[in-house]
Amino acid sequence: MSDFSATIQNADWKTEKHAPVIDAPDSVKADEFFSITAGLGKAIAHPNTVQHYIAWISLYFLPKDAKLPIQLAHAEFKAHGDSVTDQPGPALTNPSMTANVKLAKSGTLQAVAYCNIHGVWQSFKAIQVEA
Ligand code: FE2
Repeated sequence: MSDFSATIQNADWKTEKHAPVIDAPDSVKADEFFSITAGLGKAIAHPNTVQHYIAWISLYFLPKDAKLPIQLAHAEFKAHGDSVTDQPGPALTNPSMTANVKLAKSGTLQAVAYCNIHGVWQSFKAIQVEA
């Protein structure tokens, strides 16, 4: 049996629709709030239907030289065209979330997304924090 980490998939978001995109500055000032957006569909749209959808995205920060990440934010996406008929309903939640964060040291942003059919996918982005 495989451990959970072995099931997490990596890919380039430019060529794989499941890989979350992390939009954040390359460099920020220490202890000043800035926005990080994590989402899918920047290059290739992922389906958003009752049968096939992105259920959630979690955003983490791994400080430089730390062993464990800190969870910054988590979003669950609940509307996928749900309907009481066999026709798509009127509401869709786009799998994208934004967190407002301040950091005191450099490190790596990590985004993890879950597709109900294709599993867990992750992406990384280094972020430099200037004093
Ligand atoms: Fe999928």
